[in-house]
Amino acid sequence: SAAEKGGYDYFMLKEIAEQPKAVADTLLGRIDAQGTLSLDEVRIPASVLREVDKIVIVACGTAYHAGMIAKYAIEHWTRIPCETELASEFRYRDPILDQRTLVIAISQSGETMDTLMALRHAREQGAKVLAICNTNGSTIPRESDAVLYTHAGPEVAVASTKAFLTQLVACYLVALYLGQVRGTKWGDEVHSVVRELSAIGTQVEEVLETMEPVRALARSLAAKNTVLFLGRHVGYPVALEGALKLKELAYMHAEGFAAGELKHGPIALIEKDLPVVVVVPSPRGRSVLHDKIVSNIQEIRARGARTIVIAERGDEAVRPYADHLIEIPATPVLLQPLVATVPLQVFACELATARGNEVDQPRNLAKSVTVE
Ligand code: AGP
Repeated sequence: SAAEKGGYDYFMLKEIAEQPKAVADTLLGRIDAQGTLSLDEVRIPASVLREVDKIVIVACGTAYHAGMIAKYAIEHWTRIPCETELASEFRYRDPILDQRTLVIAISQSGETMDTLMALRHAREQGAKVLAICNTNGSTIPRESDAVLYTHAGPEVAVASTKAFLTQLVACYLVALYLGQVRGTKWGDEVHSVVRELSAIGTQVEEVLETMEPVRALARSLAAKNTVLFLGRHVGYPVALEGALKLKELAYMHAEGFAAGELKHGPIALIEKDLPVVVVVPSPRGRSVLHDKIVSNIQEIRARGARTIVIAERGDEAVRPYADHLIEIPATPVLLQPLVATVPLQVFACELATARGNEVDQPRNLAKSVTVE
């Protein structure tokens, strides 16, 4: 009913709007004023976490994209080797797991069969399993050694939005917590990351307030057949997520690529007026990546692409090559997906509406996939 949708036309719009709160609720009580993480609820003893020598993340769909981003954060902040794998592929390749492997299973519903089967396989091999889950008492957390709940609240729309942002927050918390427990020597970078993570809800709110031009742009592209998405580093999984949202909601051909792969094939797809969304890393910090993506944007634009550029506010270097510029607030490099994904959600939702599609219940899809 309209009341359930809180005055919005679709659950998806309501859930997009709830993201600042979902993010804040997921952080609540987990970082104290000194920037110390307390995840006592994660009932894996510190002694076990100190022995972990490998992390494997398993998930499907949007949760898998959160896991891909988590890999960057975990390896950078803890120096523990981490791989992220599609749950549906994981157990069929005879993965190498033992008592010192920590498997992280990410699932909004907690009922995804592929993810459940992957975690069962991991436990059989002796690995410890930590679930990151949004649904209290669901099967995946019940069968795991420990759980860190995301506090997104119920997500009704089939296309995942607020659950994704809270999965990212939970992944960052786990990464930082592992670093803390293991006594990783951190410089100022991590302290400022913790501070900025605590305040990230405000930045998500800022993004939401500036979405009207994104909606107008989406409507103008309603008759297109294809949209490509490019990113590098943590922007690459964001590109994959933007493409997945568009497939699910707009039923358009959408593909995400690592921008560095362009010249290894995908650039052949570029033709006049093809919309290409590019997620640009911050020009501060790791500026090598930033400069490389600016060249990528120039390359595709020279071949006729219509460039839709998501970049940090004040990034003047990309402006000349952006046919459409979507500005997002500055964040630490690893946290950018929390703000960069939001315009892509709005973009896909508006395109679906413009194409007359059912936003909350896309064709052929179920909210949770409980068969393999
Ligand atoms: C996302 O928009 C999808 N509907 C889908 O990819 C989803 O993320 C995936 O099925 C995993 O679901 P889960 O988080 O409930 O395990």
